[in-house]
Amino acid sequence: MRFLDGHRPDHDLTYDDLFIVPNRSAATSRFDVDLSTDDGSGTTIPLVVANMTAIAGKRMAETVARRGGLVVLPQDVPLDAAARTIEHVKSRHLVADTPVVLGADDLMANAQALIPKRAHGYAVVVDHDARPIGLIARAAAGHDIDMFTDLRSAMTPIPVTLSADTDPRSVFDTLVDANADLAVLTDADGRLVGVLTRTGALRAGIYQPNVDSRGRLRVAAAVGINGDVVANARALVESGADLLVVDTAHGHQEKMISALSAVAAADLGVPLAAGNVVSRRGALDLINAGATIVKVGVGPGAMCTTRMMTGVGRPQFSAVVECAAAAREGGGHVWADGGIRHPRDVALAVAAGASNAMVGSWFAGTYESPGDLHTDANGEYKVSFGMASKRAVAARSAGDNAYDQARRSLFEEGISSSRIRVDPERPSVEDLIDHISSGVRSTATYTGATTLPQLHEKVVLGVQSAAGFAEGRPLPGGW
Ligand code: XMP
Repeated sequence: MRFLDGHRPDHDLTYDDLFIVPNRSAATSRFDVDLSTDDGSGTTIPLVVANMTAIAGKRMAETVARRGGLVVLPQDVPLDAAARTIEHVKSRHLVADTPVVLGADDLMANAQALIPKRAHGYAVVVDHDARPIGLIARAAAGHDIDMFTDLRSAMTPIPVTLSADTDPRSVFDTLVDANADLAVLTDADGRLVGVLTRTGALRAGIYQPNVDSRGRLRVAAAVGINGDVVANARALVESGADLLVVDTAHGHQEKMISALSAVAAADLGVPLAAGNVVSRRGALDLINAGATIVKVGVGPGAMCTTRMMTGVGRPQFSAVVECAAAAREGGGHVWADGGIRHPRDVALAVAAGASNAMVGSWFAGTYESPGDLHTDANGEYKVSFGMASKRAVAARSAGDNAYDQARRSLFEEGISSSRIRVDPERPSVEDLIDHISSGVRSTATYTGATTLPQLHEKVVLGVQSAAGFAEGRPLPGGW
């Protein structure tokens, strides 16, 4: 990474402060760019989903891992629930998506309540032997349907049924020939395995799932620094977590260093990430305590109020540059955590030296996030909240006495409720992953890189004014 004409600014920078200068490039196709990372997370695209309750659930975890990313389950999830989520993710098919599955006696109301968790927009009706017998489509908004009808009378025939080991390209071609949206995939006994849309079949040819040594989807889990951290960490690894994130808002504190050292000494056999820090000293202390990945970011998150409450934090691009250089000296890596709102931010995080960008709130507004889908006059939305908000703190301290709960809630540093719009153009996290990975692939070709380390090495950056940033924004609605 270098700055245009050697003009390295003497103040800290955010993603919005920067532009990338096109280099002479021999690259011909975006598809020749390898987006995989080398930090032990297994990601084949540089995306990790933040350990936030409103974002990182089982549906998000399987969907993102299937496209090569990684989801970190929040530390607030009880250990038995985390174990069930991990087991679910590990049992998922690498190509077929998991549909909503209902019986013929279930009601339309059940189907319509569950289908919005699926971007593919269907529920599969099965018989008592788990053999698919019909489909229920998501009702169009405003469409008058009888919610009390049973699915036996409401289901439509399945247009395409194929074996689950059919090559995705053949699934795509069969769907085009049949003029159908969705194929139902079954095993040798005709039992339901999953579903695949045309886009899903196309994506299966573009992305590499993030898989463990046994070929199952990967999932990570976070542990806090309070309580028996080693026991919690061990339980998560025994449940199958592939990577642990030892996480607290102020990662450069003694309690973090002792908790992290203890987890590292337990030698649990998975990569350890820890954070959050924003300085060279902080990154080195976490690497020396046993982290191989340092999570960087104090205050850039969309749900954070830390900077306004405390004045503490650091513009994110500079924080990532400094911590990435320090982590590299110690043989480690960094994740750029927070403030990612456009594909360009992921490219800039990689340019700064991060192996992965961590995304939270942007992915809250998708069908795969755990919250309920709401609709108002402006369209669909989901509710997100910060992990240091009054709401999250109250949930975390639910077992405490009323006095302690009330006392803790005075010290919130996050937004308790924010409506995150579901973008009608990109309602699924997979649409956002397409959007981000296509942006980052293109950044690589503009900079003459075919891998992410090359992007970091070759990128030339310039500092722009607010007007420069505004100039780059497309004009909504045209002239
Ligand atoms: P985005 O911008 O993707 O950032 O939502 C995700 C990261 O934000 C952090 N986070 C918080 N920070 N108060 C904070 O100061 C909070 O309540 C809060 N909740 C999340 C966290 O690092 C996450 O990964």
